[in-house]
Amino acid sequence: MRMIDLIEKKQHNKELTKQEIDWMIKGYTEESIPEYQMSAMAMAIYFNGMTKDERSNLTMAIVASGEQIDLSEIAGVKVDKHSTGGVGDTTTLVLAPLVASVGVPVAKMSGRGLGHTGGTIDKLEAIPGFHVELSKEEFIKLVNKNKVAVVGQSGNLTPADKKLYALRDVTSTVESIPLIASSIMSKKIASGADAIVLDVKTGAGAFMKSVEQAKELAEAMVEIGNSVGRQTMAVISDMSQPLGNAIGNGLEVKEAIETLKGNGPEDLTELCLVLGSQMAYLGGVGNSLEEARAKLEENLHNGKALEIFKLFVQSQGGDSTVVENTDEVLPKATNKVEVQAEKSGVISTIVADQIGLTAMKLGAGRETKDSRIDLAAGVYLHKKVGDSVTAGESLATLYSNKQIDDTVKETIQANMHIADKAEPLKLIHEIIQRKN
Ligand code: URA
Ligand code: CA
Repeated sequence: MRMIDLIEKKQHNKELTKQEIDWMIKGYTEESIPEYQMSAMAMAIYFNGMTKDERSNLTMAIVASGEQIDLSEIAGVKVDKHSTGGVGDTTTLVLAPLVASVGVPVAKMSGRGLGHTGGTIDKLEAIPGFHVELSKEEFIKLVNKNKVAVVGQSGNLTPADKKLYALRDVTSTVESIPLIASSIMSKKIASGADAIVLDVKTGAGAFMKSVEQAKELAEAMVEIGNSVGRQTMAVISDMSQPLGNAIGNGLEVKEAIETLKGNGPEDLTELCLVLGSQMAYLGGVGNSLEEARAKLEENLHNGKALEIFKLFVQSQGGDSTVVENTDEVLPKATNKVEVQAEKSGVISTIVADQIGLTAMKLGAGRETKDSRIDLAAGVYLHKKVGDSVTAGESLATLYSNKQIDDTVKETIQANMHIADKAEPLKLIHEIIQRKN
């Protein structure tokens, strides 16, 4: 086989075979196919797309490029959740113990945050003592015992994706549905999930700015997952405003605890119930999504989900009194500033990515891979879209261990628009299930 023939084939919009895709990804990983040829291929895929078979074959070729996690020693259907990334997306912290509380094993591999989106591991590390460095044996033992554990990414998973993603980043080929879908799905499949629930975000704070784009991506991923034997479902959820009220690591732990006590923000609670019912249903709980949801609602209100959270924190070395003494246990910021409304009215938009960037500048996120995070830093929104405000009332509180200057305050004011009225936001745009 010659790479130039495959490039030419794709350039003329002909379908690549499984053998061709396997050969290409293997050669690229082993560096017998050079970056310049792969970059021409990425551009041909960018323009001509890929068929369903090509997408599934590409995904599995990327999976085969590295190590695959074997979770077969964990009893039950291992359901994983993936979010395409958002601002103040506290869902994993709530979902992991909530879904575990109905008996579905949650064996989660998580990453750290970069840029304006946060990572679950950073959030959990806001709890003193919490650690995610578990051996494979400890991880499996904990999931079997508590039904939940979170571990940091390790090992050599999907090296072809790492190379391809870096190449796409510098050749303007990131925004291609088949390339994004195979990139995300290959990582989930290599991490050992039997079933996958996808939270595809749309809006200003998301990668996919329109509902149509998000739907196309979600459908591509659901199709790939199911075609390779992993039951997959997707939710298209809104990320035009941040999710919940808290953005920042320690602040989000507090928000997650409130939600597990049944007192969380409405949007965060609802999204957790929608995603959680899919996870529970795929994990074999209930005969319908409604039945699965009813069980989750029960455990949010009877304290069982919170109990599992405590156990989970304690088992990974964390101070589980954080559940009762939240403010004392979580890190505190030395500086705290209120952002006041400059006029009266109704909040019409909260520009999620700008709020996320502000939280990052306060210290809650990383500007580069090596930046240190301020676990106490972040933004707490007192108002969400649709809420009324009077001039002088607090819109948000800013937290940081750095000096907070007035420009930060002004950025928040400029990105929380106050108007005479507001269009209500839809939280769940669509649910994508397998098409038969
Ligand atoms: N996230 C990924 O993991 N891969 C992509 O291609 C885009 C977003
Ligand atoms: Ca939040």
